[in-house]
Parts: sequence; C-alpha cells; structure tokens
Amino acid sequence: MPVITCIEDLRRIYERRVPKMFYDYAETGSWTEQTFRENTTDFADIKLRQRVAVDMEGRSTATQMIGQDVAMPVALAPVGLTGMQCADGEIKAARAAGKFGVPYTLSTMSICSIEDVAENTEKPFWFQLYVMRDEDYIARLIQRAKDAKCSAMVLTLDLQILGQRHKDLKNGLSTPPKPTLRNMINLSTKWQWGMGMLGTKRRQFGNIVGHAKDVADMSSLMDWTAKQFDPRLDWEKVKEYKRQWGGKLILKGILDAEDARMALSVGADAIVVSNHGGRQLDGALSAIRALPEIMDAVGDKIEVHLDSGIRSGQDVLKALAMGATGTFIGRAYIYGLGAMGEQGVTRALEVIHKELDTSMALCGRKSVRDLDRDILLIPKGFSGEWE
Ligand code: GLV
Repeated sequence: MPVITCIEDLRRIYERRVPKMFYDYAETGSWTEQTFRENTTDFADIKLRQRVAVDMEGRSTATQMIGQDVAMPVALAPVGLTGMQCADGEIKAARAAGKFGVPYTLSTMSICSIEDVAENTEKPFWFQLYVMRDEDYIARLIQRAKDAKCSAMVLTLDLQILGQRHKDLKNGLSTPPKPTLRNMINLSTKWQWGMGMLGTKRRQFGNIVGHAKDVADMSSLMDWTAKQFDPRLDWEKVKEYKRQWGGKLILKGILDAEDARMALSVGADAIVVSNHGGRQLDGALSAIRALPEIMDAVGDKIEVHLDSGIRSGQDVLKALAMGATGTFIGRAYIYGLGAMGEQGVTRALEVIHKELDTSMALCGRKSVRDLDRDILLIPKGFSGEWE
C-alpha cells in the first residue's frame, strides 16, 4: 500500500487506474480551461499569516452546515458519473462521508440511484437536482429524494446548457464506454477498474434510465444533456422547485452578487459560490476571487459555501477565512475514489482534515468557527476592480 500524504498522491494513482475517458471527464475544464486553472492558482495567491506562541490545545474543526453537524465544513460535491470512476462509486463515497461526519451530495447524473444509495448507506445525504424539460419526471425525482429522506436539495443553476469540454468530445464520452478499438486498448490496461465494473450491475444513469420517458439512448451524454436539460430554468422555476421540495435548499453555481441577492430573495438556506469547477463559463472569475463581493452583498443574511479549486485543507482554511461557512470538494475526493475506492475517499478526507487543522493552528486559531481575514495576506486588488 503506497504512503498517501497529499491529494496529489491520490490523483497520480487515479490517473493510472481509471480509463482515460473518465479521468479526462473529471480533470478538465471548458474551452481554454482558463477558469479551471485560475480556480487553483488564485487560491495559491492568497497567503497565510504565521502566528506563534499561541496555545494550540483543544482545537476543533467541527461546526455546522445548514444547521447540520459536520466534523469539518467540507461536503462532498455532486459529481456526475461517479460510479464510472469506480464500481458503485456513489455508495462508496457516501459511506466514507457518513463515517467521517461530512455531507455527501448525490448528483442527478449519478450511476447509483437515489434509492440504491439510501438502501446501502446509514446517514442521510443531500440530493443535487438538475432540471430537465420533463416536469413530471422532475416532480417524481424530487419525491424520490424526499422518500429517501435526503436532508437537503442542492439545485444547480449554472448548467442548463453544457460548456464544451474538448476532451469529452474527442473521447466520445459515454456510459458504459463504447467498445471501440481505442477504448478497448485503454481499458485493457485498467484491470482493477474492469474487475470492479464486471462485478456490479450499476453501469447506467440510475436516476434516469427506467425513470425518464424516451431514455433508450444515453450513449452520447452530451447530446442527451442538450436535449433533456431545461434551458428555461429561471428564478420563478427555482421558487416552484423550492415549494415542491419543501426542505433545506442550497443554490449552487452563484458567481455574481446580483444572483446572490436573488438567491436570498427566493428564500434559499445557502448558496454555493461556484463556477462548476471551471467546467462551464470559461473566462469567468475563479470562485475564491468572486467570494468577497458576494460576502459583502449577502454574507450576513445567508450561509455562503464555496466550491471550485479546493485541493487542500489550506484552501479550505482560506475560503473559511474569507467568510464562507462551508466548502465542497469534487475532484479531490474523486481522485481518492478512483485510486482506492471507499478507502481512498476516507484518505482524501483525512488528508484535508489534517491540513486544515494543522494550518489553522499555525495561524494561531483553534476553531473553524473563529476564522477571519486577519489570518490571511490577500494581494491588493485581489477581488479586482472591474468596470
Ligand atoms: C456535470 O455536472 C459536469 O460538469 O459534467
């Protein structure tokens, strides 16, 4: 068993073990990938203030996200096709999150269905909703999440239409992969992944196939998304889905103060400042750079979470110090899952926890509830002065 000391160790193993098509799907941004890159480089531009001779005993990373206790404010983000990164991936990731004491968010575009994850895990999880044109299907999907006792709904607002990811088009991304010569050659080198997939029946979109009308052919994910996702999603519809759900609502994909105010006005419980991991609008601001203006606009009235670019506990610390009360990781746990299954997700969470706890202490703080910009050195003009 290799010694895993950081998320990058997991990424390297993940790259070796998982078919190129699925590795590329996760490790990509849209178009030039500028926003994808800046999500991480902008975190690196913020520095931490080292403080010394402060009593470090009795530290805690425990807090709450939307009123729910968390061992650290790091939720697992919804990631489509997780069950293709590793057999039964959603169940494994949800179990690891449950045992660690952080929320797991199941994507609409998951391989394991809502019911399947609920039956095979012990803790309630959050459900992420993509809105499709078929309103009956959406009403049933929301009801299914309620029946499965999901403890929050995460409504994604930044993907009514899909940003282009060149690699997915070139790889002909599909689930299961098509038996082309190129795919067969690549798959033949991924025997651990293949053994897992042979041992499970979960190889299609579990929330969709058999539930949505006319879904015989999902082989081209991009075409299917273009036809089925509802491009008409607007704030009126958001209110309607909030009413149908009736529980805690998190609106994901907010990158602008105006939209943050709208999210507040429709009565969301939290927003996630996110650019979808740089997978949608290429050229948009990184999430961490967008955060200050959003905090100024709504930070004292609604819970503000952040995703896009977090690969370490130091990144979590920076986001919290900038005012977020929660964060989400996507790729960081997918690397762990693809590398080592449930154990790999646990390892990813342990790595991030250790980094967060130690770095917080070295900044002279003992609790994630007690962080502010005073522990940061933020470059002048970091949030930008835009016309
Ligand atoms: C879906 O959420 C994607 O980013 O591919």
